[in-house]
Amino acid sequence: MLAVDHLAPLTHEGTPLDALTREGLVFGCDYNPEQWDRAVWDEDMRLMREAGVGLVAVNIFGWSWINPDRGVWDFAELDEVIDLAHSHGIRVNLGTATASPAPWVTTRHPEILPVAEDGTRRFPGGRQGYCPSSPVFRAYAAELSRRVVERYADHPALAMWHVSNELGCHNALCYCDASAVAFREWLRARYGSIAELNTAWGTSFWSQRYSAWDQILPPLAALSLRNPGQLLDFQRFSSDQQLELYRAEARIVRAHSTAPVTTNFMVTAHIRALDYFSWAGEMDVIANDHYLDRRLPDPIAELSFAADLTRGLAAGTPWLLMETSTGAVNWQPHNLAKGEGELLRNVVSHVARGADGICFFQWRASAQGAEKFHSALLPHAGTDTAQWRSVLEVGRTLRALQPLAGTRVASDAAVLFDWESWWSLENEGRPSDDVRYLDQVHAAHAALAAAGVSTDVVSARADLSAYRLVVVPALHLVRDADADRIARFVEAGGTAIITFASGIVDEQDRVRLGGYPGAFRDLLGIVSEEFAPLGPGQSVTLDDGTTGTVWSERLRTVDAEVAARFIDGPAAGLPARTRRTVGAGTAWYLATLPDASAYRDLLSDAAEAAGIRRNPVAPGVEVVRRAGSDRSFIFIVNHTTDTVEIAAHGRDAITGVAIDGTAVVAGGAVRIIEEAS
Ligand code: GLA
Repeated sequence: MLAVDHLAPLTHEGTPLDALTREGLVFGCDYNPEQWDRAVWDEDMRLMREAGVGLVAVNIFGWSWINPDRGVWDFAELDEVIDLAHSHGIRVNLGTATASPAPWVTTRHPEILPVAEDGTRRFPGGRQGYCPSSPVFRAYAAELSRRVVERYADHPALAMWHVSNELGCHNALCYCDASAVAFREWLRARYGSIAELNTAWGTSFWSQRYSAWDQILPPLAALSLRNPGQLLDFQRFSSDQQLELYRAEARIVRAHSTAPVTTNFMVTAHIRALDYFSWAGEMDVIANDHYLDRRLPDPIAELSFAADLTRGLAAGTPWLLMETSTGAVNWQPHNLAKGEGELLRNVVSHVARGADGICFFQWRASAQGAEKFHSALLPHAGTDTAQWRSVLEVGRTLRALQPLAGTRVASDAAVLFDWESWWSLENEGRPSDDVRYLDQVHAAHAALAAAGVSTDVVSARADLSAYRLVVVPALHLVRDADADRIARFVEAGGTAIITFASGIVDEQDRVRLGGYPGAFRDLLGIVSEEFAPLGPGQSVTLDDGTTGTVWSERLRTVDAEVAARFIDGPAAGLPARTRRTVGAGTAWYLATLPDASAYRDLLSDAAEAAGIRRNPVAPGVEVVRRAGSDRSFIFIVNHTTDTVEIAAHGRDAITGVAIDGTAVVAGGAVRIIEEAS
């Protein structure tokens, strides 16, 4: 249980998370007391202390609570909630309350409501019902955040600022008139002249040449395929507009407060509108929201990937899981409960991959509202429940893991990730609908995991010099400078594994002529003459006995070895995998998606050849290391139902029991071992 009397104001020295992890990794939640009668709040506090909750995100959806009508401000309840948290030794992650406009705002200004791709306006009644470019919305949001910040900047319970909430979750792409005006301004700043824009978008095609700025619209639904340059720039613009909302509020916060500022990212499989690599530098703490996506074939592999990408956004430093669920969500078609031990396994997976804190949506399961069937720390059924007991276990575990705080995951391998490639690859008029960006990136990441290789997921713009092995899956859109950096990485001794669909277009989505894979043709010493994608469910066989799906192409080597050939399918007899020695390094090309075991073996061999230290592997078991200058921890998360034995030496970080050679991990259990140095 937390002590009540230790809530001295935070000094904000060191990293923002250092200040919050002195007694344990962060254990927090969204707290929405405005949904409940005052009488419930005391019980909330008592139970939060029992569970060890140390950080609450409040006022996230507080607009109509604190500003119920135009010119009416009522902070009495929020004051009381923050004071109450403070008196119970609980710190506050304070929302600016701008996430969802109050009804009076949209009644007074219906023009701020967002417009969908088909030109129809969306009504209020859900959340985030505003156009991100609306100057009217921005003015109201600025006033609201200024009032909140001025009021609470000096409150001793304040730990950090939570700008808005999941910016762009629902309203990332708005096609209204205000968006059109802002889009034109954005394009003017990017291109300077209409002539440049016409060149960039290739508007000679289909008679799309513009003669004045006001002819340019957001890419509203059209009768046929739309201009890909316009689509891509609209995606860039839309990400920038959301970032601008963050910046505007962060500026207001920083003018009054020295507390760290952040907003919660959505690094997940179903949100792709925000280029978080361009946002990350503006956050004082990288915070992500992640929920298991049961619609995917392997939700756990996706969790691992998302956590590794979040660490990439944090440039390797510890990050915060700002939201996750204890059990079911309520927004998937089938909202599955977590199985026995699954909550702890999920928590430990995030921590293993660099999270220094885990927060949940939300504290108490709502009795009303659209999320009344979403799980919470405190379930509808109360505390005499297995769910509550598993929450207490999470609290104890996060507290016991305090010595981990600040340590990092060390990786010799990286997968490159790029939102612009995701957008351009999946825009209209592409060679195959089956080439989905995330599938390709996930396959590479999963194959490295299966080979026991710890992997960073980093930007296509990242410095690669610290890595030995870099996988470049479907990096469709590549800038010259990024392709050059990858080539230099190989020349200096690195191994790059580049897959099909990489290097195809430049920054303007213009095909790099002269043969695929354009930007990587010289590095790889190959020329691909024609795409030959596979049909749905079709697979091809290679002459090494492995199989491939999704893709093949008709390529020839110019200066590379053929490591395997297609023996059937549309590229029968042609190279399926090539290898070229370049300087001190090696560049591989994969012209099809290898089956999972072939991909694992390929990356395992490449890691071996690159001299990469590997983690022990067992099917269905996650093994990850986090290390600081003077300590190292090995995390074992057993996702199977069988007991496994993993080689380890040291001391169990939770129980203190010595581990001498073999860690025994029961089915569904986790172990965290502080390794003997
Ligand atoms: C998001 C939001 C929360 C809540 C959860 C439900 O993460 O930020 O307000 O809606 O989803 O899963």
